[in-house]
Amino acid sequence: MPDGNIVDFFNRDKRAHKAPDADGKLAQPSKKAKRDTKEKAVKPPSKTSSPKKSAASKKVVEFADLVLSDDDDDDDIVIPERVVKRESATKKPPSNTGAKVQGSKAASAEEILASIPDAELPDTSDAKPFNYNAFKKNAGPEPTGGDVEIPDAAENCLAGMTFVFTGIMPTLPRDQAQDVVKRYGGKCTTAPSKRTTCVVLGHDAGPKKISTIKQLGIKAIDQEGFLDLLRQMPANGGSSEQAKAQQVRRAKEEAKIAKAAQQLQSETKPVVESSSQGGEIGHSKIDDTDPSQQLWTTRYAPKQMSDVCGNGTIVKRLANWLESWRKNYKLGFPPGDNSGSEFRAAMLYGPPGVGKTTAANLVARMQGFDVIEYNASDTRSKSLLQSHVSQTLKNTSLAGYFGSNAKDQGKPLCIIMDEVDGMSSGDRGGVGAMAAFAKSTSVPLILICNERRLPKMRPFDKVVYDLQFRRPDAGSIRSRILTIAQVEGLKIDSNTVDRLVESTGSDIRQILTLLSTYARTNNSMSFTEGKEFAKSWDKEVILKPFDIVAKYLGGGMWGPASGMNMNDRMNLYFNDYDFSPLFVAENYLLARSNRKPRGSTDLEMACKAADAISESDLVDKMIHGTQQQWSLMPEHAVMSCVIPSYYVAGNITGRINFPAYLGQNSKRGKYKRVLAEIQAHIRLHAWVAAQEIRLELQPAFVDKLLDPILVKGADALETVMAVMDDYFITKEDFDNLIELGVGPNNPEMRYKKVPTAVKTAFTRKYNASSHPVPFMRTEEVKSAAKKATVPDVEGIVADDMEPEPEPEKEDTLEESLGKNKYIKVPKGKPKAKAKPKAKAAPKKAKK
Ligand SMILES: Nc1ncnc2c1ncn2[C@@H]1O[C@H](COP(=O)(O)OP(=O)(O)OP(=O)(O)O)[C@@H](O)[C@H]1O
Ligand SMILES: [Mg+2]
Repeated sequence: MPDGNIVDFFNRDKRAHKAPDADGKLAQPSKKAKRDTKEKAVKPPSKTSSPKKSAASKKVVEFADLVLSDDDDDDDIVIPERVVKRESATKKPPSNTGAKVQGSKAASAEEILASIPDAELPDTSDAKPFNYNAFKKNAGPEPTGGDVEIPDAAENCLAGMTFVFTGIMPTLPRDQAQDVVKRYGGKCTTAPSKRTTCVVLGHDAGPKKISTIKQLGIKAIDQEGFLDLLRQMPANGGSSEQAKAQQVRRAKEEAKIAKAAQQLQSETKPVVESSSQGGEIGHSKIDDTDPSQQLWTTRYAPKQMSDVCGNGTIVKRLANWLESWRKNYKLGFPPGDNSGSEFRAAMLYGPPGVGKTTAANLVARMQGFDVIEYNASDTRSKSLLQSHVSQTLKNTSLAGYFGSNAKDQGKPLCIIMDEVDGMSSGDRGGVGAMAAFAKSTSVPLILICNERRLPKMRPFDKVVYDLQFRRPDAGSIRSRILTIAQVEGLKIDSNTVDRLVESTGSDIRQILTLLSTYARTNNSMSFTEGKEFAKSWDKEVILKPFDIVAKYLGGGMWGPASGMNMNDRMNLYFNDYDFSPLFVAENYLLARSNRKPRGSTDLEMACKAADAISESDLVDKMIHGTQQQWSLMPEHAVMSCVIPSYYVAGNITGRINFPAYLGQNSKRGKYKRVLAEIQAHIRLHAWVAAQEIRLELQPAFVDKLLDPILVKGADALETVMAVMDDYFITKEDFDNLIELGVGPNNPEMRYKKVPTAVKTAFTRKYNASSHPVPFMRTEEVKSAAKKATVPDVEGIVADDMEPEPEPEKEDTLEESLGKNKYIKVPKGKPKAKAKPKAKAAPKKAKK
């Protein structure tokens, strides 16, 4: 597209966009609509005639005028339903408002709506409180939508109308119906209110909604009526004032977009040559400063604050905080009025792709800071942080330091730490170190993360100025996306953009990426295409195990409306094939099937599911065992998840739990280790297998050691310790023996009855006296010289001979020797030892 022709293009585009139906229908409805309107105008509306309301036409004018006067707010464009009723009750063509209907040739939404028969509202006077479970049981399955044909309605025909769907419609699923409304420019809300144009009623609607409908006198139609409405409504919502107002607003919006597009295009000039259909494959050289070769997300990243869609207040707050940072620094960060003046660091958090990184960079640059950006996913551990970041904190500006550019000299510095939740607390204190920086930094620090509420992010509480980014609504994204599409020559209407916003969860980055991919092969996107395209991207989202198990056990997957086939059900498992089976096994008992055959019980269903799960374990063994039969994964998916889900899926009756197996498994490992240790200790007195110790000796030991203490208290300690020494049982072993017990005679419970004084006396006494320790020879003999000093006996070594046979793990050899008061380390020796090491090191390095 040549430069400067954007306005022409826009006009042409607009014409093309509306041409098929706009020429005739924009001002006047189609012939069919006219005919329909005439026919319906003669028919009296079925149930709305109420003599009381017949004289209210004057009010209509006022109310309509009131509504129409404010055309800025989308929400205000409503068709007052009471007006419709009153008009229809008078059986006169509503010519009284003059402006409303231009003669007989144009039909307004009111007329058409009035001509559609009312749905029968059920009597709710004796209604009991609504019981959702009973409702779910009685209500039949949701319709699949397969056998209903949505009529081809005129472009944007529901403009200015607000719909509420309630109850279950005979053949049309609710989400499909809502899609239709949105596709044709209407709006959907969940609860009826004064602003509702029309309620579409199915069976089993909630009594509360029905009484509201009655109270407000909102027009209610049924599924047939809705489809009729679609057939009859003329393009752009007919000639009613509401529709006209919307048209005016649209035109304004389009003009604005055209202007913005022009500006945007001049900013990214080289784009013009190779816009959307630049499918040429020949381009191999990538120059990332050339906008035409950048990703859309980079090319159209906001360049000024006003480009950032949504979250305006938050961005402004961040800017204010940054602006007064220096001042606050000098004042010693005084606590202030919610403006974050007491914080040295700010934390932006929120869902992905809503512009956190962009906003942080933009704000910092606008405030004249030199930005250093770290991605916390790289700078993870504490030591790395200290070496990287703390160095930076001491500098004023790196660009100022290195750059020859004079204007960069002495610029203040701002550090942005992205993806802070990418470092885990396990990364050797990364989060803690970061929080410590946030407390002491002498340059502004902006932290960014997605999940602020994770437990590992707790160190940041009260340390950072929390700023939450929310998903912007369609209204604030729409015009930006439309502008970008315009520049790229992609034709897309606002309803489709709204749909994209909805299905991506307002992820602007995803929308841009999605559109850029689409624009390579197409030059226009219709509503349905947008929906399909967004849906196909939906699948790429990797689900978390909690979501997966909720899908498996929550019945919806097996309902007729789900549209899932076997493959989809198996694919769910592959979102996380390690955890999904564990989650299903942990939680399948919570689910109560809503599709079990007549006469069978929940227990039987659970039993069948359990069978499948245990069989899946055999398959799992073949996959993860020695055979490594990875090709069996699909079978495992079916047996561990799909089949159990088939039997039990329905209502989930409790909270979904994390697999206890994982915890229990590590506990089992620990107990095994403990048993091995006890076995090694007592083996000089009794050579028993570890299992035997658990089954036979542990209960006996507990009785022998614990009972005297329980009976005699502190007096028994001597005897108990004698028994322990006899078997080389250490105090630690004693505690472990207590912990190993299970059952009704649980030793842990018994031990709790021992008074604390006795327990402390026990510990003190035990530590004060010396005890024989079985000496174990291990493989880790450090050196030949060391070996010679250790007596080569596998036997008992009295405490006083070798007071600490096992040095603490963290200590180095020298340190532990130094600490030990029983071992005298010759002063010269460590040096002599250290020398060869020091020598050896450079050798290694050379290699
Ligand atoms: N509010 C916005 N206004 C305009 N463009 C936006 C906005 N949010 C995101 N974008 C576009 O999406 C791209 C990615 O945004 P950004 O990297 O700031 O997201 P983010 O919130 O940091 O996401 P993440 O949590 O994944 O890091 C930007 O380069 C920009 O093109
Ligand atoms: Mg980011």
